Amino acid sequence: MYKNLESMFSVNAAGMKKSVIRELLKLTQKPDIISFAGGLPAPATFPVKEIAELARELILREGDWALQYGPTEGDPRLKQEIIKIGERDDMKMDQENILVTTASQQGLDIVGRVFINPGDIVICGRPTYVGAISAFRSYAAAFEGIELDEEGMRMDHLRDKLKALRSAGKRPKFIYVVPDFQNPAGVTMSLERRRLLLDLACEYETLVVEDTPYRQLRYVGDHVPSLYSLDAGEGIVIDLHTFSKILFPGLRLGWVQAHKTVIDKFVIAKQAMDLCTPPFTQAIAYEYCNRGLLAAHIEENVELYRNKRKTMLEALETHMPEHPGIHWTKPEGGLFLWMTVPESMDMEALFYKAVEANVAYVVGTAFYADGGGKNHARLNFSYPSPEDIVEGVKRLAAVIKEQLSS
Ligand SMILES: Cc1ncc(COP(=O)(O)O)c(C=O)c1O
Repeated sequence: MYKNLESMFSVNAAGMKKSVIRELLKLTQKPDIISFAGGLPAPATFPVKEIAELARELILREGDWALQYGPTEGDPRLKQEIIKIGERDDMKMDQENILVTTASQQGLDIVGRVFINPGDIVICGRPTYVGAISAFRSYAAAFEGIELDEEGMRMDHLRDKLKALRSAGKRPKFIYVVPDFQNPAGVTMSLERRRLLLDLACEYETLVVEDTPYRQLRYVGDHVPSLYSLDAGEGIVIDLHTFSKILFPGLRLGWVQAHKTVIDKFVIAKQAMDLCTPPFTQAIAYEYCNRGLLAAHIEENVELYRNKRKTMLEALETHMPEHPGIHWTKPEGGLFLWMTVPESMDMEALFYKAVEANVAYVVGTAFYADGGGKNHARLNFSYPSPEDIVEGVKRLAAVIKEQLSS
């Protein structure tokens, strides 16, 4: 055994740090804890029986194909179903605009691999999805954060940032956004801001990475067109999707929609990563969609999560102390809401007290690429039962009340 194996790591690997948040989350694995921390879909939504039957039939019928290697681009039959999903959402694309991925986390990695040189600037929300920060950081991206409000990323701040960067002779590689029911903040980008974002990206010659795992999980409010549909094939938008939140995450299946030039390069990058996404899981998803089961399944999920969202919002309203510094977002869809407490309060320090009181959340700092977020917490409402949501909010409210009075 070598003494200093770590000295052999690449510069990139040396920069990969254990997440403090993951370490904190280990504390939440006590039996009595009610956790708002995970980002997990409710297992009750998993179509266990249908998938068991369908998988058995599939292996017996086309095992030769489904258990074999497949094309890196993805199963053309599944891509056809993806095109139909897009059409229902006003998005036009051909097979050449789609790369099937091993879920959208791989899509993020491919984006990083293909676009980011060390030190390249990536613009993202404050806060933003922590998995995107890790993916882009592993290619040594430099982050510039833009504040969000109820309508998503602030376009006035984005314009100022782009202007300042241009004056300094810098051009960001892309702007990363989760426009629908953002993880973690739960906010949705308004149509006006989506248009402005594309105009700004065009003016400042940068790309937009649209990551939208929750798009089909809308519980209230009106549909807003995707950035991909607004871009209308211009090639500004690279759009990441996944089956994780609309079917089940164990499939590890998603896709990227983008201009053919981008997809062609992504295919080459993916070849080196895993040759292909498992044809077996692609065949399962294809069958599920082709039998017309997906739309009804999404409807059921929406119904379940709509109630859980309502339960959490009502519980917060009832139990959280009234204080001008304490508020939370009211997401129209997705799995999360975002809580803000007075600036003097540190949700990281409070996490230990919350765990003692048998309730957990994700500390806001996880979602800031450039520091900050101590007085925020992300609360998930899809996984816990409605009873646990109420009880968990009561426990959290008691911890916050005690902190306010101390
Ligand atoms: C915004 C966002 N992007 C990507 C992912 C990764 O999802 P998956 O790899 O399961 O598709 C998640 C998971 O929670 C997410 O919230």
